Amino acid sequence: MRRTLLLKPLLLLCSLLVLTACKQGQNDIEHYPETNLAQENLIPKPLQIKATHSAFGLDQNTGIYTATGFSELGQYLAEKIKWQTNLDLSVNGTSNSNRNILIQKLNDSKLPNKEAYELNISQDSVVISANTAEGAFRGVQTLRQLIPETSNDTLSKNKLWLIPSGKITDYPNFEYRGAMLDVARHFFSVEDVKKYIDLLAYYKINALHLHLTDDQGWRIEIKSWPKLTEIGGSTEVGGGPGGFYTQEEYKDLVAYAAKQHITIIPEVDMPGHTNAASLAYPFLNGNGKEVTPYTGIEVGFSTFDTRKDSVYDFIDDVVREISEMTPGPYFHAGGDESLVTKKEDFNYFISRVDKIVKKHNKRMIGWDEIAHADIDTTAIAQFWSNKDNAKLAVEKGLKVILSPGKKAYLDMKYDSLSKYGLHWAGYIPVDTAYIWTPERYIEGVSKENILGIEAPLWSETITNMEELEYLAFPRVIGHAELGWSTEENRDWEDYKQRLANQTPYLDRMNVKYYPSKLIDWKKSKDSN
Ligand code: ACM
Repeated sequence: MRRTLLLKPLLLLCSLLVLTACKQGQNDIEHYPETNLAQENLIPKPLQIKATHSAFGLDQNTGIYTATGFSELGQYLAEKIKWQTNLDLSVNGTSNSNRNILIQKLNDSKLPNKEAYELNISQDSVVISANTAEGAFRGVQTLRQLIPETSNDTLSKNKLWLIPSGKITDYPNFEYRGAMLDVARHFFSVEDVKKYIDLLAYYKINALHLHLTDDQGWRIEIKSWPKLTEIGGSTEVGGGPGGFYTQEEYKDLVAYAAKQHITIIPEVDMPGHTNAASLAYPFLNGNGKEVTPYTGIEVGFSTFDTRKDSVYDFIDDVVREISEMTPGPYFHAGGDESLVTKKEDFNYFISRVDKIVKKHNKRMIGWDEIAHADIDTTAIAQFWSNKDNAKLAVEKGLKVILSPGKKAYLDMKYDSLSKYGLHWAGYIPVDTAYIWTPERYIEGVSKENILGIEAPLWSETITNMEELEYLAFPRVIGHAELGWSTEENRDWEDYKQRLANQTPYLDRMNVKYYPSKLIDWKKSKDSN
C-alpha cells in the first residue's frame, strides 16, 4: 500500500518528463549562454548550490504541473510569473512545450525538516521537490528569485526568460524566522499587513508576530469585551483615529498568511502596556491612578491588577477568543517593561497567564522578563534586552527567540539623519543589522536553545506603509538570511551584492526602501 502511494506521483512525474521530452517545442535553443547558478542573487542564500552552467528557457509555452495537493501552489506560481513576466502559463493543463515546471511531492524521510526542498533546473525542466506544501512553497520563492527581470530576445523568436541550471538543496537553519509589526502605537490596515506578508514570504520568513495591544490602542475585536475596541481601539500615538481588526478581518489575515506558510503570532501585551485595555474596563487597572487615554510614547506606567480573579477571567476570554481564530501554536503574552508591577506580582501574573494560554492549547511566548516566573518549559522567551534573562530562560529549559534591540530592532534609526525611528538601542545601519551571529550572540545560549530570530518593528514614529518600508527595508531582508542560511553561507560582502540586486523586485512591489549608501543599488528598469 505504502509503495503504491509512493510510486504514483513518481510515475506521474516520469510520464510528464517523457511526454515533454518527446514534444518538439518551437523555442529550442542551440546555445545557451554560460550561466552560474551559484552566483545568482538569492536571498536567503541556499544551503547548497551546484551550477551546471546551462539554462532553462521559460516562455509562453511553458506549463506548470503539480502533484495532487500542490495545484494551489502551481496557481500561485503562475500568478507570480504572470506578475513578473506577463506570461500566462497553464497549470496542470496541456502544455505544448518541451520545457515544463514540475512541483512534485516526495515522501523522503531523509529530508531534514518540513521546509526542505530541492530545485533541479535543466534545459528541459524545472523540478521543485518537497515532502510538504511548505517546503515546495519555499522552493517556489527560490525559483521566483531566479527568473531574470528581462527576457533574452536575441536567442529566439519568442521571448525567453533564462533560468540558470543546476541543483539547489535547501532547508532553514532556524525553525522560527519572524518579523513583528506593532499595530498598536499606530494602526496598519489589513491591506498594509498583507503587503508586508507578501514581501516577507518572498524572503522565506515564516512567522508574523502582531503586537495587537499596548497603552495607546487595542486592535483586535473581542466579542465578550466589546469596549476593548470601541474605546481602546479609538486612540493611537499622536492622537490619530486608531482602528482595529474585526474578527473577520483578523481571520482573513491569518488565512492570507497561511497561504504563504506564514504563522500569525498574536500578542496581547500584559500586565504592563495595558492602558488602552484599562481605559475600556477600569477594573483591570492596577496602578492606582485614574486611567486616561494615552497617545504619547513613554512606557512602563500601566499595569493590570494582578491579584484580582476577575482580571484572569477577562484574560481567559481574550486568550480563548484569539486562540480560536489562530491556528498557529503560539500566543504571545508580552510581559515586557512592567515597571510599576511589583516583582512578585509580575511573576505570579505570568505564571497564571501561562496556564491560561496552555489551557487554550497554545505555547506562551513572552519577552525575556518572563524568564523569572514559574512557567512551563514549553514557554518561549523572546530576548530583546537583557542577556541574563535569556540565559536564565535557557537554564530553566525554555527555548528562546532572539530579537536583540541593538541588531534586530527595525525601528532603530539607520543613523542620525534617519527620517523615522528611535535610537535608544543605538543606530543600526544595514551592515550592523546583518553582521552578527545568533548562534553565538549570548554566551550560554547556543543553537539548540534557539527557536529562531525575529525582527520587531515598533511603530511609535511611523504612520503609514511608506514609513514602515523605510525602516523595514532593506534590514528585514538581512534578518531573513540570518534566520534561514547557515553561518558558513552568511557573508556581508557577498550579501551586499545580492541585496543590491533586489531592486527589480522591490521596485516592482513599489517598496520605498531606505537607499543606504552602503549598498551599490542596481538601477532597475522601473526606477529612474
Ligand atoms: C520591547 O521592546 N519593549 C520588547
